[in-house]
Amino acid sequence: MQPFPQGLIRLLKVLVFLLCLGPATVLVWKGFHDRLGANPVDVITRTTGKWTLTFLLLTLGVTPVRKLMRLPWLIRFRRMLGLFAFFYGTLHLMTYVWLDKFFDVPAMLHDIAKRRFITAGMTAWTLMLPLALTSTAGWIRRLGGKRWQNLHRLIYLSATAAVIHFIWLVKADLRRPLTYGAVLAALLTYRIAAWAAVKFRSRTSITVAQAGSSVTK
Ligand code: HEM
Repeated sequence: MQPFPQGLIRLLKVLVFLLCLGPATVLVWKGFHDRLGANPVDVITRTTGKWTLTFLLLTLGVTPVRKLMRLPWLIRFRRMLGLFAFFYGTLHLMTYVWLDKFFDVPAMLHDIAKRRFITAGMTAWTLMLPLALTSTAGWIRRLGGKRWQNLHRLIYLSATAAVIHFIWLVKADLRRPLTYGAVLAALLTYRIAAWAAVKFRSRTSITVAQAGSSVTK
């Protein structure tokens, strides 16, 4: 397969970056033009929450799409998407901490302990933090590829906690959280199937090699 030209990748990265900034830009624009409705805090919370979960799933989707469609260059976009998930997650958290609770720490601690959907949301964000902090090439070198990869599997736990957060916060109509849940389940199933296929192949090749050596003995 032809490698993708570097210049084109760079251009695409700029375009994707601007696209990812879109939801935040629209929110800021609406904020300055008084278009956030009667309850702006609610709109900001819901919009940033929705985009956090969307970016988490987009990040998780990179590997399956890259492998199934044979597009190796897609990997160059995964880090950016993951960092945008963290960016929107932090805006979402800050909306709660600043605009909703006005930095009232006892009220927030009470919420985290008493409202299970807040506990799940905090869990999802906390699990994203080490991933964002170790997303650089320097950290991959420091931790070593295998350990870094194991650490970054936390993204599955974070996304699971985020879907639970969404399921627990809705009062009646579960369609939206369950749609996100179904996408996450499909991505997890792909990951487990890919892992099982690798294990099966390596076990088969060991067995074939052992059979070969016992024949030559
Ligand atoms: C990875 C982290 C998180 C994700 C992916 C996430 C996702 C979401 C989603 C999808 C919604 C619903 C949006 C909608 O209705 O369209 C939401 C709402 C909300 N989230 Fe999060 N969230 C996260 C973390 C947090 C944290 C850390 C807090 C606060 C400590 C929080 C507090 C809230 C609140 C207060 C709402 C609105 C609930 C309501 O309207 O009744 N979330 N979040």
